[in-house]
Amino acid sequence: MDLFSRIAGRYDHIIRGFDLEKIIDDFTYSEEELLVDLGGGTGRVATLFLNYVNECLVLDRSFEMIKQAQNKSRNLLLVQGTGDSMPFRENTIKQIFVNDVLHHIRKQKETLQESHLVLKENGKLIIRDYDRKYIGNIFLFIFEKILRFGSVFFSPQELTDQCQEIGFSVNWKRLTKGTYLLSAEKKSN
Ligand SMILES: C[S@@+](CC[C@H](N)C(=O)[O-])C[C@H]1O[C@@H](n2cnc3c(N)ncnc32)[C@H](O)[C@@H]1O
Repeated sequence: MDLFSRIAGRYDHIIRGFDLEKIIDDFTYSEEELLVDLGGGTGRVATLFLNYVNECLVLDRSFEMIKQAQNKSRNLLLVQGTGDSMPFRENTIKQIFVNDVLHHIRKQKETLQESHLVLKENGKLIIRDYDRKYIGNIFLFIFEKILRFGSVFFSPQELTDQCQEIGFSVNWKRLTKGTYLLSAEKKSN
């Protein structure tokens, strides 16, 4: 059992609250379309998204993490799975949100490619993560190393390059000195 599964019951108490309101204007989203919260864990962020979109689906590798989301809202769709092999047909998803997850994913390139595949034209993959190059994040990197997470972080420019290679058009902004929000849009043919 991985660490997230072991701490699932306490996760929301350990991790500080998430201020979606603060970043919601930093990317475009569609109210009518399903939003996939990839690596959405306990559903703490997805629950907030229900104020902005009609439907939200939490996809997470850990059964114990998504089990926590069950009690939060009847309107959340919960699916156990991994980002590199999502249970969606090609060109069907409009928006995928990925908060504090990409660096935990082992098959990162495959997950970015899979996201590109399942997204509709002009669909968006929105990633919030920690900048590998920001020195102030060193304690986080050491902490995750001690916990043997095997985390691999990107700088926003490194992630931009990866996404562009796959075929996304990308823009990103810095949220804080150590975090960024990257929006990767699937180009229309
Ligand atoms: C730090 S937690 C973040 C949870 C949630 N996004 C949030 O902000 O509260 C990382 C989550 O990523 C999930 N995860 C790790 N690798 C994954 C993968 N390959 N596919 C889907 N979920 C994954 C873990 O199970 C865990 O729930």
